[in-house]
Amino acid sequence: MPNPIFSLLDVERSYELRGSGWFRAPSRQLKALDGVRLEVQRGDTLALVGESGSGKSTLIRLMLGLEPASDGRVLYGQRDLAQLDAEAKKRFAREVAFIYQNARGSMNPRMRIEDILAEPIRLHQLCVEREIPARLESLLLRVGLPAGLLQRFPSELSGGQIRRIAIARALASEPEVIMADESVAGLDVSVQAQVLNLLRDLCRESGITLVFITHDLGVASYLCEKIAVLYLGRIVEQGPTDAILNTPRHPYTRALLQAFPRFDMPLKASLSGEIPSPVNLPKGCRFAGRCPQVQAACRETDPALTALDAGRQVACLFPVAIA
Ligand SMILES: Nc1ncnc2c1ncn2[C@@H]1O[C@H](COP(=O)(O)OP(=O)(O)OP(=O)(O)O)[C@@H](O)[C@H]1O
Ligand SMILES: [Mg+2]
Repeated sequence: MPNPIFSLLDVERSYELRGSGWFRAPSRQLKALDGVRLEVQRGDTLALVGESGSGKSTLIRLMLGLEPASDGRVLYGQRDLAQLDAEAKKRFAREVAFIYQNARGSMNPRMRIEDILAEPIRLHQLCVEREIPARLESLLLRVGLPAGLLQRFPSELSGGQIRRIAIARALASEPEVIMADESVAGLDVSVQAQVLNLLRDLCRESGITLVFITHDLGVASYLCEKIAVLYLGRIVEQGPTDAILNTPRHPYTRALLQAFPRFDMPLKASLSGEIPSPVNLPKGCRFAGRCPQVQAACRETDPALTALDAGRQVACLFPVAIA
């Protein structure tokens, strides 16, 4: 295997929940990420899938270097994100672009699209000033928008257009990696499909590495060649999209697949039992309380993510048999 572009080595992220009330309840630790191991190869398109609260956004914040890991290491290439010097940080900011969940909210409403798109180009000094207009036009062309939009303000664009501008802004810095958090949620299905097509084609054509967060296995399978399934702060299964969809080996992945009837439906597991609180994780496997095939050992031993078959890893003591 060539050198991964990102490596997460047993990454943990805890948040301190401060006690409230006059009696000052003791503070407690919430483990948003608990031993995440992940490698992203150059050119990968990887979906991070999981229910609300599983730690997807936290994971992306750590990979963007916006927050430090409480334990473990996040490597970009060979370098620890926590130890980048100022120059390496600047390069990282150019090479790794982020598309925010709320595309409109991430743009200054008083700036014209022109200036919003030119900002990363100027910041990273990617061309001389007089070449900027041509660059902006070609960026808009790449995301399928007319050059006439450059003079508009964000509030004058539709939901689909603003998503395309967000993609154009991400592309403006000529990134190696694009990370996106649910960047099609809230769009109607046909617009969603167009934006997904665009993102998929751009990544394929230019070999950009994509890490895409979604609740929706349909979106994940459409856009990405690999899937990592998160449950309560841990990756429980990861591998090639086809393998995950056709022969899920973790009972949680299987339950998610059984519960996903439509392309545009959010993930809803038809699982019994409660999701444990990330403040009080149970001993043993974190999925044991909801697992249809739980055995006594599962309540004692916390299973590590282990290689199973080609490119697939599963954290389960008794992986689902392939029929
Ligand atoms: N700054 C914070 N302080 C305390 N707890 C936090 C903080 N950020 C996240 N959490 C908690 O960490 C866990 C993971 O949150 P995260 O936002 O990463 O989930 P998510 O998978 O992105 O969910 P969603 O699909 O709803 O966006 C949750 O239990 C959340 O409440
Ligand atoms: Mg989130």
